[in-house]
Amino acid sequence: MRGNNFIRGPATMFFALACAIMARPALADAQEELTYAKHVAPILQENCQVCHQPGSIAPMSLMTFEAVKRYAPRIREKVSQRVMPPWHIDRSVGVQEFKNDRGLTDEELETLVAWLDGDMPYGDEADLPPAPDFPDGSEWQFKEQFGRPPDLVVKSDPYTLAAKTQDKWFRPLTETGLTEERWVKAIEIRPSWPDGRSVVHHTLAFLVQQEDPDEMSEATAALATSSRSMGGPGLFMEWAVGKVGEIFPDGAGKLMLPGSRISWEVHYHAIGREVEDSYVELGLWFYPKDEVPENRTRLRYFNATGDDLDIAPGKIAVTQDFYTLRWPARLENFQPHMHMRGKAMSMTAIYPDGRKEILSQVSNFQWNWHVNYIYADHAAPLLPAGTTLAFTAWHDNTPENPNNPDHTQWVGWGDRTIDEMAHAWVDVTYITEEQYAAEIARREALAQEQETKEGGKR
Ligand code: HEC
Repeated sequence: MRGNNFIRGPATMFFALACAIMARPALADAQEELTYAKHVAPILQENCQVCHQPGSIAPMSLMTFEAVKRYAPRIREKVSQRVMPPWHIDRSVGVQEFKNDRGLTDEELETLVAWLDGDMPYGDEADLPPAPDFPDGSEWQFKEQFGRPPDLVVKSDPYTLAAKTQDKWFRPLTETGLTEERWVKAIEIRPSWPDGRSVVHHTLAFLVQQEDPDEMSEATAALATSSRSMGGPGLFMEWAVGKVGEIFPDGAGKLMLPGSRISWEVHYHAIGREVEDSYVELGLWFYPKDEVPENRTRLRYFNATGDDLDIAPGKIAVTQDFYTLRWPARLENFQPHMHMRGKAMSMTAIYPDGRKEILSQVSNFQWNWHVNYIYADHAAPLLPAGTTLAFTAWHDNTPENPNNPDHTQWVGWGDRTIDEMAHAWVDVTYITEEQYAAEIARREALAQEQETKEGGKR
C-alpha cells in the first residue's frame, strides 16, 4: 500500500481511462462515424504537429494520415497515459486556468482513442482542415504577438560539443550592452536552430547587475542566502525543451540595469554527431521607456527536498520544504524540476489562518519535459503576507517507474539525470497590501458577476 493517492500506477490510470471510454455519451453525435479528416486531423494539428513535423524536436512527423496510422499503437499508449502532449498537471486539483494549456481535453482524448481503436477510416477529403502555419525554430515565437522582433538580443559564446561525451555544463558571461534602466515585458530563450536545439538540454540565464538595496531585494537576498535556496536575486529565466519564454502581466516586469550582464549555464547533451558552434540567445521585449510597471517580478527557486535527499533502492521517497512570504504576492507560474525518478510535485499554500490549499500539482512528472504551467491572469494565486508555501516532491525508485534506469541503486542529490533533485521555478510578484486588497475585491466582484449571469441563464 502506498502512502498517498497522488501516485497513480499505469493500471489505475488505464482503468480510469477505460471507464471514461465506456461511459462515452460526450461525443457530439453518437451515430456519426469518427474519421481522420473530420475529427482526428484537427486534434493533431492543434496539439501535436508543432513538434511532430519534419525538422522539429519530436522523433517522428505526424503530419499525414499514413504516418498517424503507422504510429497508431504508440500514439494510443502515450496519449492515454497522458504523457503526450507534454502537459502533465493534475486536472483534478488546484488552479486549472493557464495561458499555455496544450493538454488534450477529456473529449479530445476519447475521440482520438476511439478512432485509434476502430478501423481508423479516412473520411471525406472535404472535411480536412487546411494545414496550419507553424512558426519555425529560427523565428522568435513572441514576434507575432508583439508585432516586432525582440528589442534586445543577448547571444552566448559558441560551444562545440563532441559526438560522444558525458553531459557538459557551459558557463559563459555576456554583456547586455544596456546603458539605461529598462523594464522587461517578455523574455524568450532560443537555442541556435536547428543544431543548438538538438543538443541543449536546458539553459539558465542569470542577470548579473549592481542592485540598490531596497526592501524587496532585502527579502530576496534573505532567501538567496538561505542554505535551501539557489539562484539568488539574479536568476532571470530558465529554458528547456518545450518552453518558449515568459510574458509578464501588465503592470509587472523584470528590471534590467545599465551595465548588466547575463551569466549562462547551458547544459549540453551529446547526440552521436559533433555539433559545432551552437549558441543560445535571449530575446527581450521592453516596456516603453515612459511606462514603469508598478511591481517587480522575480524568478524564484524553491527547493522541495529539505536539507537532504535520500532515496532508498526500490522505494518511494517523499520530501518537503517550506517558505514564508513576507509580503502579499501573486504567483505567475509553476514549473517543477526533477530527474528520472521524479514522479510528482505539489505546491500548497498554508494561509496565515491555517487553511491549506493545493495551488498546483503535477502527478505524472516526466523528467525529460520541463513544462512551465503559466497561470491565466485572473487565476494566478494571490497570497496574503505570511502565507507559507509548501513544496512536496515524490521520487519513485521502484521498478514500476518506467523511467527508472535502475531500481537497485541508492540515489542522492546531484546534477546528472541519474542523480536527483527537486525544485520548482516560480515567478513571484510581490505587491503592496493595497494592491492585494484591490485585486481580491476585483476578483470577488468578477465572480459575483459571473454567478448572476449564470443564475440569469437558468
Ligand atoms: C512540445 C512538443 C510536442 C508535442 C506538442 C507533442 N509531442 Fe509527442 N513527442 C515529442 C518529443 C520530443 C518526443 C520524444 C521524446 C519523448 O518521448 O518525450 C515525443 C514522443 C512521442 C511519442 C513516442 C514516440 C516513440 O519514440 O515511441 C508519441 C507516440 C507521441 N509523441 C505522440 C504525440 C501526440 C499524439 C501528440 C499530440 C496529441 C504529441 N505527441 C504532442 C514532442 C511533442
